[in-house]
Amino acid sequence: MKFFLDTADLAEIEEAASWGALAGVTTNPSLYAKIGGRLENFHAHMKRICEIVGPDCPVSAESVAMTRDEIVRDGLELAEIADNIVVKIPTMVEGLAATRALADQNVPVNMTLCFSVPQALLAARAGARYISPFIGRFDDISDDGLAQVGNIVQAIGNYDFTNNTVNGEQIEIIAASVRSANHVTQCALMGADIATVPFGVLKKMVQHPLTDRGLDSFMKDWEKVQNA
Ligand code: E4P
Repeated sequence: MKFFLDTADLAEIEEAASWGALAGVTTNPSLYAKIGGRLENFHAHMKRICEIVGPDCPVSAESVAMTRDEIVRDGLELAEIADNIVVKIPTMVEGLAATRALADQNVPVNMTLCFSVPQALLAARAGARYISPFIGRFDDISDDGLAQVGNIVQAIGNYDFTNNTVNGEQIEIIAASVRSANHVTQCALMGADIATVPFGVLKKMVQHPLTDRGLDSFMKDWEKVQNA
């Protein structure tokens, strides 16, 4: 499983990238608004994220257009920012049509706001490079987000979509709307390719009380060795 950071916060991205285990970044309009992002700085901000994580890490930048032509225009502009930009597009009819048009022009798409197997299958057929099923928002309405991710991983894995994607690459499922380290565990067991996680969850993923306890006793014993 690969880990993406789900944020537009440059300090969080710099910190997470320095840990050596980051494989990409996802952003969305809400995350950009949360850091006080301004419209006129959006492209420059995405460019900065691309520079921080480097050319091998995909960075999802979301289109907020609502018609296929506008989404395609938006997507082509976003793709100009850097080679590692992935255009994020919501799962809707206009989004599917735009995904097909962008994939045909070798622009990778992350199909977002995906909540069902039929939506994921359509996204795959339309040429999406990444599909992002959401977990937490299902849980918010007392439904089972993890089960949907499992269903989508299984359904997409049942078929070969490589004729549909940019350069024949395999589709990757990004478990999104992740709220806990346990979500990550369950998604990994179900075979999701990627988890995109908020910085708070990434920090929790490193931690374990037995690691802390073990480290504490190693340090104390090493002090004894030094004083022996
Ligand atoms: C990622 O691609 C999504 O935009 C994000 O994970 C949504 O998370 P949320 O449901 O916590 O807002």
